[in-house]
Parts: sequence; structure tokens; C-alpha cells
Amino acid sequence: MSYDADLNFVFAHTHKVMYGANTINDLGSALNEMGLSKAVVVTDSFLAEKTDLLERAKKTLGPRFAGAFTGVIPDPTAASIDEGAAYAKSVNADALVSLGGGSAIDSAKGMAVVLTEGGKVLDHEGYHALARPLTPHIAIPTTAGTGSEMTMVLVVKDPERGQKTFIGSYFLHPNLAILDPTLTVGLPAKLTAATGMDALSHAIEGLFSTLGNPMSDACATEAIRLIAKYLPGCIEKPDDLVARGQMLIASAMAGSAFSNAMASLNHAMAHTVGAKFGIHHGTANAMFLANTMRFFSDVSADRLAIAAQAMGISTSGLSDAQAAEKAADRVEQLVKEIGLTDRLSDYGVSEENLAEIADMAMTDGTIIYSPKPVFEPEEIIGLLRKVL
Ligand SMILES: NC(=O)c1ccc[n+]([C@@H]2O[C@H](COP(=O)([O-])OP(=O)(O)OC[C@H]3O[C@@H](n4cnc5c(N)ncnc54)[C@H](O)[C@@H]3O)[C@@H](O)[C@H]2O)c1
Ligand SMILES: [Fe+2]
Repeated sequence: MSYDADLNFVFAHTHKVMYGANTINDLGSALNEMGLSKAVVVTDSFLAEKTDLLERAKKTLGPRFAGAFTGVIPDPTAASIDEGAAYAKSVNADALVSLGGGSAIDSAKGMAVVLTEGGKVLDHEGYHALARPLTPHIAIPTTAGTGSEMTMVLVVKDPERGQKTFIGSYFLHPNLAILDPTLTVGLPAKLTAATGMDALSHAIEGLFSTLGNPMSDACATEAIRLIAKYLPGCIEKPDDLVARGQMLIASAMAGSAFSNAMASLNHAMAHTVGAKFGIHHGTANAMFLANTMRFFSDVSADRLAIAAQAMGISTSGLSDAQAAEKAADRVEQLVKEIGLTDRLSDYGVSEENLAEIADMAMTDGTIIYSPKPVFEPEEIIGLLRKVL
């Protein structure tokens, strides 16, 4: 990879990561080390009632467990986050522990904003508007994943606008991320596949973003390598702790990549169909990714050639353009291999909806980081139509 003489960047992410099977058992002592004693666990009702994950967290927290907010919803709304913050305030929480997928981690980020700054979560929308460190937050992902445990962003749905919006701030990095592969072995195949493709989208979009830099590129490239190697194994053998663990690491690295380099058009489309039609974030990213790569291959072939190599494709003798095409083909093949056959029409999207989706994607906060400007909604409609 080559960089210009005027290269200039900031690279930031969660400063402490703990990895290992059963590392969740160190949650209590980690909280102690941070001088905290009243933690609220932020999770969803499925994980709280149908799995042993909340019980495991409670056990290690012991007397430091101040309560659980189990009202996290997929693609959290502003109202659900405000409700969680009110609960945490009512029990005088001095720390938040998110336990779940991106929805739980983002909910805890939003709750921390409200606990520290007051008001409602949407009062703080936008980038770099927060003024001080937030209520401490330990993130424990149970999907691999959004990488939100490493990022400075939270995504929140505003039902009034029917759109997802963002808060971005260095203060949103969790204080600690605990990556424990025993927590993801129970993730069903479809969600394993979809969340894995979210991570791959972060890495590939991070690699061709206009904000990419040597450090985000290193994270992105290694994440692509690990995902291509280990994601199929997580589907074939769900309790393979090596594959599960490498996917958690890949997801965290992809999070570091895109938190710094940002995502782009693929995520703009995924956010929109997530908000409008309830399509799971990773599933949507998986639907679009190969065609997004082809769409940008005229300006990002060199970067996509690196993605091809990371995925184990031999590129010797190929031009960058040929290698880029192979990378997109490989992504398309991977999506099928892991059983993601969804199309937009499966979720009630029809030809008549495409113009509105495209218009909304044009206003999504991520689209400006695309490697070439997307000027016309028709360009997006063309991509959407391919997976209708
Ligand atoms: N802040 C960021 O940097 C960032 C990045 C990407 C995505 N996101 C956001 O993350 C959200 C999506 O997160 P997600 O894809 O992790 O899904 P999710 O958190 O919405 O969870 C999806 C489902 O999986 C279940 N689940 C989670 N872990 C499980 C486990 N171990 N076993 C069984 N079931 C489990 C949950 O109960 C839920 O029903 C979206 O709102 C998206 O916008 C945020
Ligand atoms: Fe994502």
C-alpha cells in the first residue's frame, strides 16, 4: 500500500482489550481495578431470559451488580436508550456493562451519554460534540460482529425520521472490551453469518475509504484475512472456540479500522433498509457488499487487490482490476457458502421502494467517505435492484 507525503491522521480506539475463553469471569475484578462498585448490565430480554450470559455476568460482579436493563431492542431507538438511562440513574449506577450484540453496546454508549450530559440521547447527535469523559463502560460483545466495542460511534434509530443517526466522539470508546469466545458459541448460524459479514464490510469499506491510513489498513487487512479463514468454520462447527475467538478478534480489528477510516456506501444502504424495513444490519451489508466492491473497483482496484490477497486469492499475474473482480467474486461466494441467500424482496421491498431507499441512503452520514462521490440516486437504485 502506498501513501502520499501529506499523510495526516488520528488513530484512536478502545485502549484496553482482554481476550480469552471465560474472560468474562474477570469482569468483577476489572471493575474493581477501575474503582467502580455499582454496575448496571445492559442487555436484551432474549439474552437475559434464554441464555446463561446474564447469570455469568452477575456471578462475577457479585455485590457490584446494581441491576440489569434488559430492554435493549435490535437497532435501538432513542426512546429505548433514554429508558435505559433512566433505569441506570434510578439505581445510582457508576458503571455500565454492555452484554450483547451491537444493539446492547450502542445502547450502553447512549446511556452513558445521557447519564453524564443529561437530557435525551438525541440532544447529543452529531460528531465531536461531547465535552468530557462519560460514565465508565465495559463492552462485552456476544456477536462477532459490529466491532462497536472498539468504536467511537453509536448508531441510534429515530423513529420520527424513520432513519438511523449517529453520535461520534472519542469519549464513546468503551473503557474496556472483553472478548470471550465462549459467549458467541450459542449464536445461531444465520446471525453468526450476518454479523460476520458486517465485520467484513467494516474491514473492506475501511480499506477503500477516503480516510484510510496505515494503522486502519493494518487492522482492516488482518480482519479480512481472519474472516475469510474462520467465518465458515463458525457455521460448520458452532462450538469451535478457535474459529469463534478469531472471529471476535477480527470483528474488533475491523471495528478499529472503520471507526477511524469510516464506512461508506455499503453501510449507507444497510442503515437505510435496516431503519425502513427492519433488515438485520449484517444481513443487509452481506447482500450489498460484492456489488459495492464492483461499483468502486474503477477507483479502488489497488485496495481491493489487497483484499483479494488477504482472502488467500493468488493475484500473481493479475492486474489490480482483475484481482479486484476476484475479491468481489470471493465475497459473493462466501455469502452463499455461509447460507445468506436473503434478497430485499424477502423483506417486502419492491421496485417502487427503491427510489426512496436511494434518496435516504444519499443522506446517510457514512456515504461521504465513499472512495468516489455518489452523485445520483440512480447509481444506488442500480445496486439495490441487483439484490431485489
Ligand atoms: N456503533 C458501531 O460502531 C456499530 C457498528 C456496526 C453496527 N452497529 C449497530 O449494531 C446493531 C446490530 O448489532 P448486532 O448485529 O450485533 O445484532 P443485535 O445486537 O441487534 O442482536 C441481534 C440478535 O442476536 C441475539 N444475540 C446476540 N448475541 C447472541 C448470542 N451469543 N446467542 C444468541 N443470540 C444472540 C440478540 O438477542 C438479538 O436478538 C445495529 O443497530 C447496528 O446499527 C453499531
Ligand atoms: Fe456495521
